[in-house]
Order: sequence, then C-alpha cells, then structure tokens
Amino acid sequence: MTVDVARDGAVAVVTIDRQDALNALDVETLTELRDRLRELGAAEDVRAVVLTGAGEKAFVAGADIRYMSGLDVEQAKGWGALGHDAARLLETMPKPTIAAINGFALGGGCELALGCDIRFASSRAKLGQPEINLGIVPGWGGTQRLARVCGIGVAKELIFTGRTVNAEEALRIGLVTAIADPVLDRALETAHELAGKSRLALSLAKELVNMSPGALDHESQEFGALFSSEDAIEGLTAFAGKRAPKFVGR
Ligand code: CAA
Repeated sequence: MTVDVARDGAVAVVTIDRQDALNALDVETLTELRDRLRELGAAEDVRAVVLTGAGEKAFVAGADIRYMSGLDVEQAKGWGALGHDAARLLETMPKPTIAAINGFALGGGCELALGCDIRFASSRAKLGQPEINLGIVPGWGGTQRLARVCGIGVAKELIFTGRTVNAEEALRIGLVTAIADPVLDRALETAHELAGKSRLALSLAKELVNMSPGALDHESQEFGALFSSEDAIEGLTAFAGKRAPKFVGR
C-alpha cells in the first residue's frame, strides 16, 4: 500500500508511504492519493484531513524523477493535471486540510503541502521547489500557491534558485506556521480542534479565504447570509450565555 488512510475520530490521516524513494510520487501513488482525497472530501463524517509522509526522512521528495524522465509532452500534461487535481482537492474540499511536514517536502511535495490549508513542520523539515535544477518548473501549482502564501518576491527567489529552506526559514517566510516535534501530534491537535467547530462556518471561511481580493463584496454577502444558520445563532447566543456552543452543521 502506498497511500494509507487511518481514522482518528473525525480526523483522517493520509500517509504517503513509498519510503525507498523518499515518498516521491509515481503515477500509481499519485492516482491513489487523488482518489483517496476525493473520497475524504465527500465523506460527511470526516471533519479534517491531515497529510503526512511515512518514515523519518521525508514528507514527499517530489514527483518521481525517474518516471518523469520518460514522459512525452502529452503525457507530461496529463501528469501535471493529475498533480493539480490532488492539490486542488486539498485546497477546495469543504473541510480543513493540514500538512504535517516530517522531512523533505520538495517539488511536488512542497506543492501538495501548499495545497493544504495549514502547514506545520518538524525541526528536520526541508522545503523547496528545486525543479529549476532539473530544467523544468513547478507543475502542480507551486508558481501560484507559493507566491500567494509567501509573496511574489520570496516565490521568485526560491523557484528561480531552486534553493531549499530549513524549518526555521520556512517559519520566517510564512511557508509554515509552526515548528513542532513530533509534527504529526501538533497537526492532530489542531485537526481535532477544528473538527469541533461549526462545519458550516469553517467550510465557508475556507471558501472565502481561497477567493481573490476581488471577492470582498462576496464576503459581506456570504457573511450576512450565514446569520440565518442555526450554527450562527447558536454560536452567538452561546457566547452571551457563557456556555460552549453545540454546532449541528445547519
Ligand atoms: N524521484 C525519484 N526518486 C527519488 C526522488 C524523486 N523525486 N527523491 C529521492 N529519490 C530516491 C533516490 O533516487 C534514492 O533512490 P536509490 O536509493 O534507489 O538511489 C532514494 O530516494 C534516497 O534518496 P537519496 O539517496 O538521494 O537521499 P539523500 O538523503 O542523499 O538526498 C534528497 C535526499 C536531497 C531529497 C535527494 O534525494 C533529492 O534531491 N531528491 C530529488 C528532489 C527533487 O528534485 N524533487 C523535485 C522533483 S520534480 C517535481 O516534483 C516536479 C513537479 O513540480 C511536479
């Protein structure tokens, strides 16, 4: 098995396990990952998803370079689209996704982490987009998402040089929001915290944050519309009543 899905209550933990290649993604592994993410996105009882890599060394060391070296243009376009599908599922599924970056997150590995809503790193993590050193460019969303997460200046420097950053630098440039050991524990703690919040409000918050700044009008509309939900009424009144809210997802 190359992609393991384990359940911890309402949280699903997806572990990419291809340790002899530092969890690099070949077509079988990436297809399996895309399919599992699609299922988890649709599963009502899954409230948060954590993505990590098996073993001590790597989150995902990128797309499998040996596999890529045999691709023609049409095959490479299909390969790019498959990686985009996986990253987009992480970015758009209506529940939070958290990357627990336990080692190398390079190339496509960094891009999958960037598809996640939240990134935490272990102190040993190394992140980067080294594609330039292979004569290619990031192909699974890195040019756009790294710029959105870290700013266009940082993205250009990292993508143009192909340099990798350690956990401390990743934290400084905003590529991850915390360093923790073991990083999976930190990711699970946050995932369980988020699983207890209003599913409705959380999925709308995700959708709105994902929108471009041109969507500010949309934000006020959706913000107002949410006030008709049972969860908003419950959350607002529970605060006034000094009690914990009970959310029902409507
Ligand atoms: N593809 C295929 N195999 C890989 C791999 C990758 N991306 N990364 C590591 N491996 C394999 C190695 O070939 C090696 O296999 P063998 O034992 O059979 O030789 C095994 O994993 C262990 O790796 P190393 O011996 O190289 O381990 P190291 O500790 O010396 O170095 C590393 C670790 C710095 C991560 C190094 O393996 C490396 O540079 N890997 C490539 C990283 C990379 O360039 N990733 C981007 C790929 S391109 C991409 O992802 C395109 C995209 O946008 C979609």
